[in-house]
Amino acid sequence: MEQREALRLALLERAKEARKHSYCPYSGFAVGAALLCADGTVYAGCNIENAGFTATCCAERTAFFRAVNDGKRDFKAIAIVGGKAGQEPAELCAPCGVCRQVMAEFCGGDFEIVMTDGKALHISTLEELLPLAFGPGNLQ
Ligand code: THU
Repeated sequence: MEQREALRLALLERAKEARKHSYCPYSGFAVGAALLCADGTVYAGCNIENAGFTATCCAERTAFFRAVNDGKRDFKAIAIVGGKAGQEPAELCAPCGVCRQVMAEFCGGDFEIVMTDGKALHISTLEELLPLAFGPGNLQ
């Protein structure tokens, strides 16, 4: 198997592990994410819901905020796995708009988003998922 493909699969496995920690009593939708830093380290995250719904944090942002809090700023890819809690995910879980915006703060258009429908890998770039992004460059 190509090395890049093996790395993506390994990242998905980390996302699946993180998904086990999902706190989703309101939606019953469990998500895990694994963020690959340029230095090779991986930060995982799960969604963390709240009775005040707007305080909910998606798995992707949990991973990003953990990484940034540790001083990481350069990222290569993120794997995302989501679906009904207690079941194997069978559909792609694409990042929400807020998470795409957080990605755009730290990542270029070639940042890779790795998803799966349970059968095959699906790869998109940030440029594909958030074209014409408003980002740090707009405020310079
Ligand atoms: N969620 C994520 O964590 N990531 C996504 O990409 C989509 C949605 C979470 C938020 C909420 O806890 C639940 O999934 C249902 O929206």
